[in-house]
Amino acid sequence: MESLATVVARAADALPAWRRLPAPRRAETLIRVGELLRDRKSTLAEIITAEIGKPPAEAGGEVQEAIDMAYYMAGEGRRSFGQTVPSELPDKWAMSIREPVGVVAAITAWNFPIAVPSWKILPALVLGNTVVWKPSERAERCAAAFAQVFTEAGVPPGVLTIVTGDGRVGETLVRQPAVSLVSFTGSRENGRHVAIACAELGKRCALELGGKNAVIVLDDADLELAVDGIVWSAFGTSGQRCTSCSRVIVHKGIRAALTEALVERVKSLEIDQGAADRCEKFIREAVAAGARRLTSGATLLDNVTPRMRIAQEELFGPVCVIIEVGSLAEAIAVNNDVPYGLSSSIYTRDVNQAFAAMRELSSGIVYINAGTTGSEVQLPFGGVRGSGNGWREAGQAALDTFSEWKTIYVDYSGRLQRAQIDR
Ligand code: UN1
Repeated sequence: MESLATVVARAADALPAWRRLPAPRRAETLIRVGELLRDRKSTLAEIITAEIGKPPAEAGGEVQEAIDMAYYMAGEGRRSFGQTVPSELPDKWAMSIREPVGVVAAITAWNFPIAVPSWKILPALVLGNTVVWKPSERAERCAAAFAQVFTEAGVPPGVLTIVTGDGRVGETLVRQPAVSLVSFTGSRENGRHVAIACAELGKRCALELGGKNAVIVLDDADLELAVDGIVWSAFGTSGQRCTSCSRVIVHKGIRAALTEALVERVKSLEIDQGAADRCEKFIREAVAAGARRLTSGATLLDNVTPRMRIAQEELFGPVCVIIEVGSLAEAIAVNNDVPYGLSSSIYTRDVNQAFAAMRELSSGIVYINAGTTGSEVQLPFGGVRGSGNGWREAGQAALDTFSEWKTIYVDYSGRLQRAQIDR
């Protein structure tokens, strides 16, 4: 296999021609990527299911998310808007355009082995960057099948290359001098290492880390709807989404009814037993601290208080705790009092409470009357506090992550003009 340095050198060599290719032409390649993904949706979904065990319907949804992103970002080939604004001086033109950042290192996790890489690779490519991608070592078959699509779509050699291996390969990749931007999805701990390395080396670093996402249920909520949303967002994907719900914050007036309905639904769920087993020590610790275990396998716990470890740390498994509160204000305070801020949700029929929650919930994504999962590609994805570092994926915000602004002034007066001084 080629050395990492060679791969990065090829990505750097491929940059000048790729960035000079008109963006609408780069976008045509993305359209072909979208078409090939659409044609291969079921095959790719089968590979995801075989390699990481994601249920077939969810695996199909994940490929769909990459298809959506391909078409959405292909549209940016004919947009990628800059600004043209008036100048304060006569006969002077002022505008800004987007430019690629350079060689992008994309480092991704195993739980969304095609969708999340698509959030990085597609905007990076349409904006004229080249990409070296280090997928999770648990999802290398998915990565190979996804990268193959780009090759067949006509992405030139060196513009997208995979490097395989564990976290050490990722670390070496981050440190390659020709890499200008690191886009990382993974744990908070690993994200911290990446951020420190990038700070030292003066590289842009965009992090998508974990979550401790909550669904708030007020006493006027549609109970059935809330149960559906909680069950799907807490135990779908066996709780292994960064957007998975791991806390239910419920008003005391509806707590008994909600808990009963949840237990009824959750006790018969099938989940990934390995993921459940990995959470067991946290569950035992919580029970020792006074929590009550209501179900096993897909695990619900009540009598949980907001500062227990199980209510603060990301477990990344099928475990959800129930915390009782007495008001919307308390629910919001509990929601916000965790190290993460990715996704949050509230069930209420009261529009005033919903809007107050939209303003006060401290998270990058807020859902009203829906669970904590289910983002769409045309809006920004990412979180506040420990869930990220301010950059976003998807939507128009991804264009900021994967480009540099260049501001251009054209003085066509033929004489010296001094900004701020000649007035
Ligand atoms: C992730 O968990 O890493 O909103 C991404 C969602 C999906 C993406 C999840 N569209 O749950």
